[in-house]
Amino acid sequence: MTKQASESRAGERFSSTGFIIAAIGSAVGLGNMWKFPYITGKYGGAAFFLVFIICLLLVGLPVLLAEMAIGRGGRGDAATSFRNLSRNKVWSGFGFLSIVGSFMILSFYAVVAGWTLKYGLQSFTGSLYANPDYAAVFGAYAGSLQPIAWQALVLLLTGWVVARGVSGGIESFNKVLIPGLLILLIILMIRGLTLPGAGAGVSFFLEPDFSKLTPTSILVALGHAFFSLSLGMGTMLTYGAYVDRRQSLGSATLAIGAGDLLYALLAGLIIFPTSFAFGLEPAQGPGLIFAVLPAAFASMPLGAFFGGLFFLLLAIAAITSTVSLLEVSVAYSMRRWSFSRPKATALTATACFLVGIPAALSVGGPLGDLVIGGRTYFDWLDFIASNIILPLGGLAVTLFVGYAWKRVGDEVGLSALWFRIWLILVRYVAPVLVVFVFLFSTGIFRVLFGWGE
Ligand code: PHE
Repeated sequence: MTKQASESRAGERFSSTGFIIAAIGSAVGLGNMWKFPYITGKYGGAAFFLVFIICLLLVGLPVLLAEMAIGRGGRGDAATSFRNLSRNKVWSGFGFLSIVGSFMILSFYAVVAGWTLKYGLQSFTGSLYANPDYAAVFGAYAGSLQPIAWQALVLLLTGWVVARGVSGGIESFNKVLIPGLLILLIILMIRGLTLPGAGAGVSFFLEPDFSKLTPTSILVALGHAFFSLSLGMGTMLTYGAYVDRRQSLGSATLAIGAGDLLYALLAGLIIFPTSFAFGLEPAQGPGLIFAVLPAAFASMPLGAFFGGLFFLLLAIAAITSTVSLLEVSVAYSMRRWSFSRPKATALTATACFLVGIPAALSVGGPLGDLVIGGRTYFDWLDFIASNIILPLGGLAVTLFVGYAWKRVGDEVGLSALWFRIWLILVRYVAPVLVVFVFLFSTGIFRVLFGWGE
């Protein structure tokens, strides 16, 4: 290895806290701040939250540990790590599929992240509140060409971080922004909880009503546990490859799971009290944050400031996740084509931008009417990546550690009892439940049993 190559390798490692913070940064994203509140609103409030926690513990954390172990054991990108551990090409094929999935997620996720940046800026300047018909304002913005510019900005920021390397870029960036995010969340939570009428939102979020649970809500919770922990997309695997051998992956798993849950809890304690205090409907769906919440900020004292903080918070959460998504493709192309890190970053981020342009234009925009098989381009990217590739990627991870990789015990380093429990979960429980999620989210269950929308 040349001196330069070994020096650049030296920067390709996380410190132990750096790794945990970066992994929390990947996990905490629009999934926690944007998707989690509205699916909780829709699928049963507190009862749904409880089911989500159970899914996180029984399936999410065991698979998270498995993914990180494959990365650290295989010391490669999401495809190569499998190949370094097993000769059977099927596994690296699934690894490659998850790289494609992470690329697809990034291409539409950057569009939504762009919306949050634009809303944050407009809230601070006050221009967001000029026209109180927020749904129409959102529609007009999403229907214009503007989202492309914001999407580009998100990818530029993401690329800037990734190009600086694992420790100098990804780790340093997350170490500043993830604690910063916590502070913003706490400020906004206090603001939300002290609004008159906030209590109804808290009880909606935290007092379970089990009669609201349906098979659909359980499957949504399970799918969300995967998405929320960034599983099945090669991200935790890619990050895992930069972890020191001496670090305990078991405790890292617990810390990442706790972090993800904490940030989701805080997001819920902002969004529900704030919506209820202003008589807004929390089960609004994806538009909740952009089309509904601005009304709440408009009518509270210092609302433009708090609204600005809120959208800034979303943008930070989103960009710490886009960084992890881009790193998956960057790690792969650095190895596959021997690109330098900056070159790999520039090329993959540009490709992602191009693939994402039609997504930016298809939420009510010029391509909004181009609906094929009931879905727009944006919806197809999301559907294929989140509902097909993600469960398949997750399944491959559980089957690989459960049945194919004989020496996995050395890598995970759990005590004998925990190892046995973990093995039961990844061998028998997780694969079955992941197959359920797959049948559900691809619509096969709907055809068979009528579960789902
Ligand atoms: N976990 C992220 C979120 O909750 C999304 C994500 C999924 C990131 C898959 C990376 C990989 O928003």
